[in-house]
Amino acid sequence: MDRTKTKEKEELNERISLIENGIIKTFVIECLNITPKYFWRIPASSSGMYHPVISLGIGGLVRHTIKAVDYGVSLCEKNSILGLTRDKIIASLILHDTCKAGVKDVENHSDYPVHAYLPRKYYKKIAEKFLPKISNEIFDLIDSHMGEWSEYPEKIPETREQKIVHFADYLASRKNQPILDYSKDIKSLETYDKLIIL
Ligand SMILES: [Fe+2]
Repeated sequence: MDRTKTKEKEELNERISLIENGIIKTFVIECLNITPKYFWRIPASSSGMYHPVISLGIGGLVRHTIKAVDYGVSLCEKNSILGLTRDKIIASLILHDTCKAGVKDVENHSDYPVHAYLPRKYYKKIAEKFLPKISNEIFDLIDSHMGEWSEYPEKIPETREQKIVHFADYLASRKNQPILDYSKDIKSLETYDKLIIL
């Protein structure tokens, strides 16, 4: 079965269409065209311990990605982040876990043997073709998406954009999700207002 023709793929395409800048959008599409095939199939957590039920099972990692983008978009809205900065945040959230289970054919990928640091190398040729400068900024956002759980101090989020990407991923991976359309309603949740320290 071709997992690239699933509902998840359609929903992810909707998130791609949120990117306003045409070159960033093309860059993301080109990256997804070569993304490791397992991305479309595997669950977000193999143990099931650290993610909500919706992110488990076949296609779970894509559903987690969609959710992370939705949180990222809401956080951008809350923080009045628009344009290119918002596009980079969305792009980084779409790509952040695409190498989650590792990649084989990347030179020196053991520099940082963690999934967060693989996209920079795995998508290097596409980045050089489309976005040599901006792609670096997108990869910087991906690098620090693990937040305080990063094994490397230099990869802990510092900028507001890095914190948003990490926080969106963090919220998407919480077991207890609000019973609301989070893409629209997160702004009104007092609890989350208190959590957002950016
Ligand atoms: Fe993630």
